[in-house]
Amino acid sequence: MYTTLLNSIENYLNQQPEVEQGLTWVCTTIKDELPRYDWVGFYFHHATKKELHLKAFAGKPTDHTIIPFGKGICGQVAVSNKNFVVDDVGQQDNYIACSIDVKSEIVIPLFVENKNIGQIDIDSNTARAFSKKDEEFLTEVNVLIAAFLIRAQVSF
Ligand code: SME
Repeated sequence: MYTTLLNSIENYLNQQPEVEQGLTWVCTTIKDELPRYDWVGFYFHHATKKELHLKAFAGKPTDHTIIPFGKGICGQVAVSNKNFVVDDVGQQDNYIACSIDVKSEIVIPLFVENKNIGQIDIDSNTARAFSKKDEEFLTEVNVLIAAFLIRAQVSF
């Protein structure tokens, strides 16, 4: 399960980078290391509004920096608290297209002390790009990110 990559992420985050810098480094590193990962980003729940706000990403800039809860794959995960793996985005009614090149997507919620506070979102230009292995890997990434945010004393 991409163990070397997880170890690199853990080592980097242990050096206590600034929060946005740490998140951006993780996005860029994952995107560069895994060929099917064409866009990687972290959205966080707004403190008071039912909205997701993009905090860090790697890949092409997106217009969708704010997503209401319930809208698109990301907005649905904000409500369901469950992983969402989309093999073919063309089959999804409730989907927000960031690029016409995207064929598949995976969104994994990010929990801090059992509270869903955001998510990691990956787009791929390859159909059916994501497997159980990716779900497990990204769940572990989010465990490392949660610990990093707690250490950085980010409030939720
Ligand atoms: N496709 C997502 C929107 C975010 S972009 O992928 C960056 C969705 O349907 O929620």
